[in-house]
Amino acid sequence: MKRTPLMAANWKMNGTQAESKKILEALLPQIQENKNVEVVICPPFTALALVAEILTGTGVKLGGQNMYFEAKGAFTGEISAGMLKELNCEYVILGHSERRTHFKETDELVNKKVLAALKNKIKPIICVGESLAQREKNETDNLVTAQVKAALNFVAEDDLLNVVFAYEPIWAIGTGKTCEADEANRVIKLIRQTVAGLYKKDLAEKMRILYGGSVKTDTIDEQMAQSDIDGGLVGGASLLANDFARIVNFKKL
Ligand code: PGA
Repeated sequence: MKRTPLMAANWKMNGTQAESKKILEALLPQIQENKNVEVVICPPFTALALVAEILTGTGVKLGGQNMYFEAKGAFTGEISAGMLKELNCEYVILGHSERRTHFKETDELVNKKVLAALKNKIKPIICVGESLAQREKNETDNLVTAQVKAALNFVAEDDLLNVVFAYEPIWAIGTGKTCEADEANRVIKLIRQTVAGLYKKDLAEKMRILYGGSVKTDTIDEQMAQSDIDGGLVGGASLLANDFARIVNFKKL
């Protein structure tokens, strides 16, 4: 099954407008010729408008890092799917482990956000993954399966291919410790099987599932050589234009 690779840059809480511009000026000339890989930049909210403007006409897509599920109202500090859509966001990262951990986001909340994103024609990149303690207790498979099922509650079959999952083992995020490529592939296959159990099998085969967690220039080629890894959700390395360009332009092994 041929799936278009997707590389998403998660800048997290990094990037003033000036810094964002600088990264993109160095990055874009290095990746624009590559038509085989879909690229999404997810800057902080405050840089979205500027980044949207810089990306116009480049083919590189824009994404938010979070959103609230309500359309509008008294939710101080939150922003809605409609607001992201207005800025040309095609994607939004949802349920990142940093949001689950620091901001107590539950599976139920993530699911509400997924439904709100899809309703507004924004493609959610849903993050799932276990902590080190959960891995050591052999809870990885059960946890990831439960996170996937919860995130997809009430998601219509027609919408499934607008959903992207990212398997991000928490112990590999920002630590420099990458999950072995074959182990990441095993968990990603499990995610695909879980989706196949809920929807038509061919849809699960077409759905894209990314790996995230210390993706680097020297890990990406092996990761992309795996049967089921369709791209990367890249944090630290996506702030370095040359590194992220190398990740986008990964080499086929
Ligand atoms: P990292 O972050 O590449 O810095 O580990 C990945 C992520 O949190 O999405």
